[in-house]
Amino acid sequence: MTKEFAIIDLFAGPGGLGEGFSRAGRDADTPMKIHLSVEMDDHAVQTLRLRAFLRSFREFPIEYYNALNSGSALPDWAELYPTIWKHAEREVRQRVLGEKGVFEELAVELDRAREAYSGNTILIGGPPCQAYSLAGRSRNSGKANYVLEEDHRHYLYREYVRILHRLRPAAFVMENVKGMLSSKVDGGGIFSRVLDDLEAAGDGYVLLPLSKTAPEDGTRAPAQDFLISAEDHGVPQARHRVIVVGIRKDMAEGLHLEEPLLGQPQALVSVEQAIGDIPILRSGLSKGDTVEAWQKALRNQASAIAASEAVPAEVREIARSIEKANELPFQRVSSSKQRPNGMPRHLRGWFPDDGLKALLQHETRGHIPGDLGRYLFSSAFSRAFGKAPKLVEFPEFLQPMHRNRSTGKFADRFRTQVADRPSTTVTSHISKDGHYFIHPDPLQCRSLTVREAARLQTFPDNYFFCGPRTKQYHQVGNAVPPYLAWQIAESVRKLLD
Ligand SMILES: C[S@@+](CC[C@H](N)C(=O)[O-])C[C@H]1O[C@@H](n2cnc3c(N)ncnc32)[C@H](O)[C@@H]1O
Repeated sequence: MTKEFAIIDLFAGPGGLGEGFSRAGRDADTPMKIHLSVEMDDHAVQTLRLRAFLRSFREFPIEYYNALNSGSALPDWAELYPTIWKHAEREVRQRVLGEKGVFEELAVELDRAREAYSGNTILIGGPPCQAYSLAGRSRNSGKANYVLEEDHRHYLYREYVRILHRLRPAAFVMENVKGMLSSKVDGGGIFSRVLDDLEAAGDGYVLLPLSKTAPEDGTRAPAQDFLISAEDHGVPQARHRVIVVGIRKDMAEGLHLEEPLLGQPQALVSVEQAIGDIPILRSGLSKGDTVEAWQKALRNQASAIAASEAVPAEVREIARSIEKANELPFQRVSSSKQRPNGMPRHLRGWFPDDGLKALLQHETRGHIPGDLGRYLFSSAFSRAFGKAPKLVEFPEFLQPMHRNRSTGKFADRFRTQVADRPSTTVTSHISKDGHYFIHPDPLQCRSLTVREAARLQTFPDNYFFCGPRTKQYHQVGNAVPPYLAWQIAESVRKLLD
């Protein structure tokens, strides 16, 4: 008999976690279906609605492919498929969790879902993390009037717990940043408090780590064991996150796992393996951009780097080859698809969609000429030495005119993603300027495009991010990698089965 699990996704962002869950169990007798997503951001909600709509079809509608393949705007789905679109609107609620009346409204929905699915529900989600993240904490500590205990974001996880308590799902998955492990409020560690609350919600939960086995004596795993490294699970990105899985006590009786839920670590996947098939593009100039002006600016920067005694010989050589190159990239946008080369099998089966003839959202940003020089130096250095240079290793003429330069705070201000390793964490910061996300190819001299960032986050190639480009980047950086989410979903599904 088919047992369908209804997924409730809180703080759903663009739906990375949800995407993984909705793909799990598709070919088995226990599919997972997103029942409700709650998110407050306009553009993330648009992305979620579009995806919810598309998932309602056994195969995505032809109008979707036609629009994407021809580069035209997406049609008005409400007009084309009013009933299905309405359903997607009901599934994705734009609400601010924690605001007055929101819980009460959702509670009605949760009770209905629990009944309709005979308790076979799963709660997923990642309460916002700015207040816990190490970067956020250092930013907050610089604010004169910042009082940690008054930052409501510290307590938003309680909305998650409140809903957990009400829904009493068969299982839950909660994701957060690593900083949650060390964050403190009122003198105590927030993480142990979160675990206490999760464990005690509803009829009680057994908390399981994903990449370690839980202690045999039934005690709670140490906090550190809830940390998971996405790069160990086939994701081409070093992304370390706290992920707690909870199984409702009555379902976890006698549960004993010999292996970690996610199995043993897999081989690392490099940036090159994940994005090496994506067409070459040039960056732009933030002012007066033309192909000629950009190529001239690039050659000028290459020439200055090639001539500098302060630059290592290996880097000078790469710069010289660019200065003298007969051909330089000329396009800033490309939708042409190429055959993946060297991509590991699991991703070859994950990214592509045969209906899609075009590559989506692969368009470069513009930079000032000085940044072209810094990008060129950084990517050439990374190619020569297999690691991105620190700011102190940049020659004087490429040092940014930055007041705080000497504080050491900006040692990694420009960071190339090294080709033969997993990338560093793709964060929402990528929406700001891309300096941390420089493409490994010095010839292209640019930051990663939305599609490349989406690949590193393992979003399938047919995943469309709504809103202006900065908002697309923001969504990509916020998400749980769907391929990781899919593995989590599969392991939870098998446990519950
Ligand atoms: C880290 S992201 C979640 C990513 C998501 N789990 C995924 O895999 O794509 C957190 C999201 O919570 C949303 N958010 C923050 N505060 C919220 C609130 N009070 N109510 C609803 N959504 C909120 C943010 O807009 C952001 O999209």
